[in-house]
Amino acid sequence: MNSLLNIYSAPLQGYTDHIWRNNHAKYFGGITRYYTPFIRLEKGTIRNHDIKDINPDVNTSTVVPQIIACQPQEATILIDAIKNLGYTSIDINLGCPHPPVALKHKGSGMLKYPDEFAKFLQAIAQYRDIEFSVKMRLGWDDNKQWQEIVPLLDIINPTHITIHPRIGTQKYKGDLDLSQFEAILASCHYPILYNGNIESIADAITIKEKYPNLAGVMIGRGLVAHPYITSTDATNQTVQNFHDSLMEAYCNSYTGGEGQIVTKMKSLWELFLPEADHKARKAIKKSHTLQQYATAAHDAINSVTIG
Ligand SMILES: Cc1cc2nc3c(=O)[nH]c(=O)nc-3n(C[C@H](O)[C@H](O)[C@H](O)COP(=O)(O)O)c2cc1C
Repeated sequence: MNSLLNIYSAPLQGYTDHIWRNNHAKYFGGITRYYTPFIRLEKGTIRNHDIKDINPDVNTSTVVPQIIACQPQEATILIDAIKNLGYTSIDINLGCPHPPVALKHKGSGMLKYPDEFAKFLQAIAQYRDIEFSVKMRLGWDDNKQWQEIVPLLDIINPTHITIHPRIGTQKYKGDLDLSQFEAILASCHYPILYNGNIESIADAITIKEKYPNLAGVMIGRGLVAHPYITSTDATNQTVQNFHDSLMEAYCNSYTGGEGQIVTKMKSLWELFLPEADHKARKAIKKSHTLQQYATAAHDAINSVTIG
């Protein structure tokens, strides 16, 4: 592993909860900071599940909570709750592409509305004891919308900006727009992290060599697919141990019985080890009991060559 390369774990709602983060840090390490999936208000309050996920008592890795909001009042409720837990760094989501979120001017939807965004920033700038960072796309429906957004960030003086060089309407597919990414790098005086389609440490090194001024890279789907890429000595047994520890932690924290845990573990495989043996992956999909699931998962992990 290249020790000059800072690697950050991207938030992935439904995957990178505290159980995944803790186990990733324990079995593989190599991550400078883990960003949490966004926390939002639902009917005016924060979901218990979200607050539990960022509680320092259950987090054993270095974590930065992320929020998503558009109204200043929403942001202050979220920031107050996070501050009360003792955090001093908060990431702002300007990237979520899901239309139900973006059409409310949240996530990447906010990138189309610089005036609203300026008011939002003025409200959160009151929190002088919090360091803010931003995770953003190039725009919502235009790859130059960042040009009006990035200068406004001076209001909060962010510690860094993570750029996913797509626009919101592309969701997670389609070409990455490196020319606009380069334009941001050239014009912006804040440290920049690159995020998008990194599958391996070799990919991360290639990006860092191409853009030597990068402060680091953030990896999302690639890290859930191959969590061991940040480790120098992981083997199939390490991945098996990581998997079994995840399963045990979900067994201890979920109260909905075996079916709920099997469903949760199956959802991991939507991204995890895509190259694993087709038959074993099929058996995972068809499993109903934890025993059936665990046997199929064991076969799938052992069908892959790691280390
Ligand atoms: C299922 C899923 C959930 C995501 N949840 C979040 C989130 O909560 N906050 C966020 O900033 N980005 C979220 N993202 C975006 C990722 O953090 C990342 O920016 C994106 O996947 C591109 O990086 P990658 O190609 O390394 O995966 C999510 C992406 C996916 C696929």
